[in-house]
Amino acid sequence: MAAPSAQDLPKTHQALVLLSTSEPLSLQTVPTPSPTPGSVVVRVLSANISSYSGDIYNGKRGYPIPTPSIVGASGIGRIVATGPDTVALSPGDLVLIDSGIYGRDDPDTKILFGIHEGFSDASRKLMAGEWRNSTYAEYAKVPLENCERLDEKRLCSSVSEGGLGYEIEELGRLHEHAIAMGGLDDVNVEVGDTVIVAPATGNFGRAAVRVAVALGAAKVIAMGRDQSKLDALAESHERISAVRITGYVAADTAALKEKLGKGKGADVYFDISPPAATSSSHFKSCITALRPHGRVSLMGGVTGDVALPLVWIMFQNITLKGTYMYTREQRKKLVKMLEGGLMVFEKGSVKKFGLHEWDAAAKAASDAAGTEASCVICP
Ligand SMILES: NC(=O)c1ccc[n+]([C@@H]2O[C@H](COP(=O)([O-])OP(=O)(O)OC[C@H]3O[C@@H](n4cnc5c(N)ncnc54)[C@H](OP(=O)(O)O)[C@@H]3O)[C@@H](O)[C@H]2O)c1
Repeated sequence: MAAPSAQDLPKTHQALVLLSTSEPLSLQTVPTPSPTPGSVVVRVLSANISSYSGDIYNGKRGYPIPTPSIVGASGIGRIVATGPDTVALSPGDLVLIDSGIYGRDDPDTKILFGIHEGFSDASRKLMAGEWRNSTYAEYAKVPLENCERLDEKRLCSSVSEGGLGYEIEELGRLHEHAIAMGGLDDVNVEVGDTVIVAPATGNFGRAAVRVAVALGAAKVIAMGRDQSKLDALAESHERISAVRITGYVAADTAALKEKLGKGKGADVYFDISPPAATSSSHFKSCITALRPHGRVSLMGGVTGDVALPLVWIMFQNITLKGTYMYTREQRKKLVKMLEGGLMVFEKGSVKKFGLHEWDAAAKAASDAAGTEASCVICP
């Protein structure tokens, strides 16, 4: 297929615009962006929808986001036009679009493209101007460093041709797995480690279980409330086992330790709790199931204060590490693992929606939480 070029870009295109969180997203015809220094324009092929995307744009989640703006998320795109300083990416390349945008002159300033403008004047500035419009659109302008080139032949050609047989839309799952990689890599999960993931039954929790296995963890204990989802996870791989959150800290710690083997504590506890889990007992049971010098990766979006066993943390020399998103190196590492066949995504479980189907798409994504299915917008 001939690569599309900048001249092929239409003057206008279709996009989902957030006018206000008190009204539905509006499908509009908007000007097509042009590439500027430091950016490329992609034809968006699929853009992810999380289980709570609907609640972001109806205001329930309280995420700050400028209006009007074209909303969106990470996804998969094909480059159609490059800026004057693009040196590696070319029109026609298939790329993972990474929604974590960092200030080039201050990497501590960060926004989530189409989702969250951050909490500082600097991050608001970053999102208000150049990176205001995201991927629920036919075309999007994306920072160069937010495009990870994918080996399309390896990933998408058939198994008989030496490929891995993924559909392009399935590759959008790289994003949730890259988030899991961010936290697991930040606490140096190594071959042979034992890792507790809690809660393990949501989108990112399930991804963390898979990434921990792919990183070579000897045992991965999936913790959650729903026994049937836990059973399905435990059945999916011999190194995965499951422990249910009962609400009783001592009993749950004992159940975790039983899975780890007599007298042993886990090396790592990876947390990806949602706001609803603020008062859940699992924080304490997971931390008290760690070995001395154990490491905790805190990636959850818990908004309230969580009670932690501080004396235990001190006596056991435990490290707590917060991680937001992932670095370019971690993203690259994950892509290499997928292309190398070390990380495998479930096939055929992606539901596709058009831009005009936003309400149904958001509902389907919410209903799909905790299942293998994921939902994407294919503009
Ligand atoms: N650090 C980062 O960069 C980053 C990036 C993305 C997302 N996040 C955060 O990750 C969180 C999880 O996202 P997700 O997409 O995985 O959510 P999700 O698919 O909705 O899953 C939520 C998980 O939390 C569990 N849960 C819900 N209420 C609970 C409670 N009261 N007690 C214990 N467990 C409970 C659910 O278990 P059941 O199956 O039992 O319902 C499920 O496992 C989000 O809230 C977000 O803020 C962080």
